[in-house]
Amino acid sequence: MNITLSNGKVIPIEMHKVKIVQQTSLPTASQRIEAIKTAGYNTFLLRTRDIFLDMLTDSGTNAMSDNQLAAMMRADDAYAGSESFYRLSDSVQEVLGFKFTIPVHQGRAAEHLLAKTFIKPGDVVLMNYHFTTSKALIEQAGGRVLEVFGEDALDTTSENPFKGNIDLQKLEKSIQEIGVEHLPYIRMEASTNLIGGQPFSIQNLRAVKAIAEQHGIPLVFDGSLISEEAYFIQQREPEFADASIQEIIHEMMKSVDIFYMSGRKSTMVRGGLIATNHKKFYDLILPWLPLYEGFATYGGMSTKEVEAMAVGMVEMTEQSVASSSADFIHYFVHRLVEERLPVVTPAGGLACHVDALRFLPHVPQTEYPAAALAAALYIASGVRGMERGTVSTDRAADGNDTLADMELVRLALPRRLYTLSHIEYTIDRLKWLFAHRDLIGGLKFIEEPPVLRFFFGRMQALGDWGPALAAAFQKDFGMNC
Ligand code: F0G
Repeated sequence: MNITLSNGKVIPIEMHKVKIVQQTSLPTASQRIEAIKTAGYNTFLLRTRDIFLDMLTDSGTNAMSDNQLAAMMRADDAYAGSESFYRLSDSVQEVLGFKFTIPVHQGRAAEHLLAKTFIKPGDVVLMNYHFTTSKALIEQAGGRVLEVFGEDALDTTSENPFKGNIDLQKLEKSIQEIGVEHLPYIRMEASTNLIGGQPFSIQNLRAVKAIAEQHGIPLVFDGSLISEEAYFIQQREPEFADASIQEIIHEMMKSVDIFYMSGRKSTMVRGGLIATNHKKFYDLILPWLPLYEGFATYGGMSTKEVEAMAVGMVEMTEQSVASSSADFIHYFVHRLVEERLPVVTPAGGLACHVDALRFLPHVPQTEYPAAALAAALYIASGVRGMERGTVSTDRAADGNDTLADMELVRLALPRRLYTLSHIEYTIDRLKWLFAHRDLIGGLKFIEEPPVLRFFFGRMQALGDWGPALAAAFQKDFGMNC
């Protein structure tokens, strides 16, 4: 929620009280340079003890509510027929309106089951934008992804409130060219993660559904950030200005044939699910569940997480919960805009996204500017962000790098985890880094896995710029910061 102070300034405010805390510590710049070298300049390979503020992801890292923690205590650990599952299924029915729920251990497990069930070699999945795991799993099944986004979706300076929209003309044209027999489903990702957590409008969703229906193609909805998507619609789409988060979710679900989500984000647990009202889809997917995940009433999740997800599903429809991270991200982005730092606008869901191409124009994409900037920010602050650029895009079949559409450093704000002073600290260190950006160089791989290389790949700083950056920092802030 936002609140207006007596001087007219608007700040985001926490609509919760802190009950349990986890101690953090701020390693010095000398310790940070050693840690990032050991991690191969890959922030994924840092340890928590070396991190001050962990903005890697909002996935599974959110502060849970007292009601979620209490619900975990009543988990029914039955292998089959667990009452915890029926409570989750009731929440899905109430909040999303679907009769059939298939629990899975996390979002990519849902994507795996969908790919297994629906993708044949040669198939194409049309979508607003891909997510790393959704694309990799479709490709593993022999299909490919085709993104049909609007013309300014990748423009980091655009003010378009719905950069997650599908371009309807491109959609129609692609359907004609590819042919419905090769189009198993159309995928809409709510708050398109890789382009900066950007939402689509309900008007666009309805239009996509109408086209899909006309051609008999099912619409699959990735609702990992569904509560934030609903909040953006309420804030940005005039038709829904007075609607509640719950009403907006119901309206969106009218267009959806198969819903899936990572439960690690909006519902603030560690799990996931698929849900539908179509028995034929349920019957196609369910047989694979025990093979890959677990029995139908836990699907690879701990029953404690199933219980917490049942509560989180309902709580995410509360206005102050749906807006909790989005309002802090908005503040974060606009403070950086004020400071003239390059960030993705409009502010989206899950994170503040820094545009590394504009931050480090002297580092070519083949030298991974976003990965270099993520490592540099860690050296200058102890804040861990995530590269979302060419390192997160695997090589093409010919072995060449596939240059990503965007080079972003994602500074995720897990829901209810960090305070305004944490954000101000990060803004200050980003400002310092921007003033010293000439010290930052590129990276090269020294160990590179064949798939999803960003997780385990190790890199080296070209010209060993890391220590020089740390030394400049120590000169300005002293040896103890
Ligand atoms: N879809 C979207 C839109 C996601 O953001 C994610 C995960 C997934 C699917 C896969 O879900 O992780 O539970 O298996 N996003 C995380 C992130 C990993 O850091 O943004 P998962």
